[in-house]
Amino acid sequence: MANKLINQMGLPKSIANIFTARNIITAKDALSHTEFELMELLDVGKEEVTSAMAHVSEVVCPPCQTALLLLEQRVRNETLAGHLPTRLKGLDDALCGGIPFGVLTELVGPAGIGKTQFCLKLSLLASLPASCGGLDGRVIYIDIESKFRSKRLIEIGINSFPEIFHKKGMAQEMAGRILILRPTSLSEFAESLYQIKVSLLQQQVKLLIIDSMAALVLGEHECGTTRQQALGWHVSFIKSLAEFSRIPVVLTNQVRSQSGDESRIYSFQAQSRSIIKDNPATYDSHLVAALGINWAHAVTIRLVLEARSGQRFIKLAKSPISPPLAFPFKITSSGVILLDDDGIEMKGPEINTIQCQGLSLSSLAVNSTEYVLCTKNT
Ligand code: GTP
Ligand code: MG
Repeated sequence: MANKLINQMGLPKSIANIFTARNIITAKDALSHTEFELMELLDVGKEEVTSAMAHVSEVVCPPCQTALLLLEQRVRNETLAGHLPTRLKGLDDALCGGIPFGVLTELVGPAGIGKTQFCLKLSLLASLPASCGGLDGRVIYIDIESKFRSKRLIEIGINSFPEIFHKKGMAQEMAGRILILRPTSLSEFAESLYQIKVSLLQQQVKLLIIDSMAALVLGEHECGTTRQQALGWHVSFIKSLAEFSRIPVVLTNQVRSQSGDESRIYSFQAQSRSIIKDNPATYDSHLVAALGINWAHAVTIRLVLEARSGQRFIKLAKSPISPPLAFPFKITSSGVILLDDDGIEMKGPEINTIQCQGLSLSSLAVNSTEYVLCTKNT
């Protein structure tokens, strides 16, 4: 309700335009101010503000509901609820169609396992024409670590959807639908979120990706408490974006080691290079998701990407509709593909663990800001 657009509430056009011009777009934006603040911001008299706000409050006030109405609403929502198919058949079947709209889906796993590759494929799928099974929309890709590679995106497109990408101008059109944002700090990121909120309303955005949430939050906050506070605010905002726009929101998360003295080794942090290199077993054996438990509760779907004995797996570790399943996968010129559509059902602690076994740590390619794990089986 609070996200209803001011200019769609039947206010007189003259006053609705003033709200828009002052960047007060939704009912929530307006209701977060006192009448005096609004008089000052909008530069209009008390009477006009009072009458406009009374109207806005009336429109957004939740109506009285009966049990029957709730039931009808639920049926309607279920019909409207959509999914972005990943085209990984086993995973789509387990998720009843793919990445769900309106909630947060997390990809968590060690460096180099394939999180960004997965995101690139999802971006393409969301931008494909509906006639080809896509969402025919724009994508907002928040590329925190500047790892987005357009060339790789086109390569995946050409190899996965040759019928579309070989048509003249189609590769450019698809790539042109993906908007890349590269905020360099949490405050810039928060600003991007406000911009995104407006874009989601005004443009045909069908997918939001944040790659990687962990790098953004952990890079800036060393201290656990401030980190949790910063994360809390951002997560609530992103969740509300997903809910009101009803688009899939995909976020990547990294891993940290949780053993002995080195209880906080983030795989992408420069200072941890020597520790990981000197003691790869430490990094290998006790990995946990880098963003803690509160974050884990905020996401509806958690996909763990991991390696066991050199084989990559996608684990559907958290889902409200599926048992925990693991699918072996590899990364090819077409991007991420499953080796088997029959997921292996997991039980016990295996569901929550994150493994990184058999991916060669000696081939960790280090550049100035990050680790990239170069694996042999691509
Ligand atoms: P971080 O961002 O460092 O946490 O890692 P990530 O999980 O996002 O890894 P990413 O998705 O970047 O995957 C890197 C892996 O994808 C590499 O180790 C390769 O195995 C594979 N890969 C990357 N680029 C290509 C490519 O052009 N062709 C093929 N076949 N594989 C690639
Ligand atoms: Mg990545």
